[in-house]
Amino acid sequence: MTERPTLRLAVLKGDGIGPEVVDSAVEVLSVAAKRNSLDLDLVDLPIGLQAYNKMGRTLPPETLEGMKKCDGWILGPLASGTYPKDDKDYPMASGKIRKAFDLFANIRPIRSLVGDENEKIDLVIVRENTEDFYPDRNLFKGYGEFWPDENTVFSLRVVTRKACRRIAETAFRLAASRGIKKQVTAVHKANVLVEGDGLFLEEVRKMAMNFPTIQLDEGLVDSVGMQLVMAPETFDVLVTTNLFGDILSDVAAGTVGGLGLAPSLNSGERYAMAQAVHGSAPDIAGKQLANPTAEILSTAMLLHWLYSKNGPAQTEKTALDIEKATISSLETEDRSKLTVDLGGKTSTQEFTMRIVANLEKMDP
Ligand code: NAI
Ligand code: MG
Repeated sequence: MTERPTLRLAVLKGDGIGPEVVDSAVEVLSVAAKRNSLDLDLVDLPIGLQAYNKMGRTLPPETLEGMKKCDGWILGPLASGTYPKDDKDYPMASGKIRKAFDLFANIRPIRSLVGDENEKIDLVIVRENTEDFYPDRNLFKGYGEFWPDENTVFSLRVVTRKACRRIAETAFRLAASRGIKKQVTAVHKANVLVEGDGLFLEEVRKMAMNFPTIQLDEGLVDSVGMQLVMAPETFDVLVTTNLFGDILSDVAAGTVGGLGLAPSLNSGERYAMAQAVHGSAPDIAGKQLANPTAEILSTAMLLHWLYSKNGPAQTEKTALDIEKATISSLETEDRSKLTVDLGGKTSTQEFTMRIVANLEKMDP
């Protein structure tokens, strides 16, 4: 008898709406995996304020060790903006994870999932994840923001050839595999950040030569921001540096109904982590008002990634089932069946149960 495949996944619930949306993602995942004869070994690991209150820091070493023993990780949002300054992992546990495990690519798809617009939006922002203006990521030791005098702050920006090259390669490969518009837009500000974004553009252009079937467009971040609002359906894959990618992905999420619908995957060569684009949403936390779609679709992205790294076939089928059941739960004439952010009246848990019900209705 052949052994059933088992996936060992770390579950890191995070802060604010984190426990609500991660519980929902785990519920949907568990039902979908069971239907596909995929066994799950889910390992809860402490992170964020819950870890700080118990263990004195937001990213305890035990958590990092536990993560290494898993095939993949599901992370909820972290209220990093509120973390105490005496936290040893200050200012940002998720940045530390991205850096520690070299999760250099942050893949952020934005799709029209709700409503029936004629022009369907289907784009992906590929964001460099390990350097740029993020001061927690750009030094070997110490912190990349400092005060030369009491009235001045220097924020150090780092752009390396290696990081530009690999994020460019990720974007071109993605555009080729999607096969939709076969277009990559490099988003930059090389008219002002002449050296840093100049280097970024140089590497993207070089990479483009290896992908002759993919068209390379280039745009300044400010005008791309406007185009994302006015004509998001014209984009396919956008590739950019860390901070621009962070900002543009929230802007783009706004064109399809908000952050509740924006999934993301942090990935490197060896590891990957599902983590929705949104934050801990303190304004709605603990009220069952959160839309779990972003975290659920992030989990499906993780399963696709695991399959692409030689994971069992059941992993891919489980991901496809999760996506199908989630998307069909959003396609409804009756808006009240949606979560509150989409104009509905349905709680996080009720919406999760709708997805589960749709999964159970699907052919095996
Ligand atoms: P946010 O993304 O938490 O919330 C922005 C707005 O979107 C709020 O009105 C919120 O209610 C809404 N929203 C977010 N996710 C939603 C969901 N799933 N369903 C329905 N509505 C949703 O950004 P904000 O308020 O600027 O940041 C709050 C905290 O989160 C801060 O401490 C910040 O540092 C942290 N943060 C963490 C991130 C992460 O861990 N990946 C990313 C962004 C912010
Ligand atoms: Mg962000």
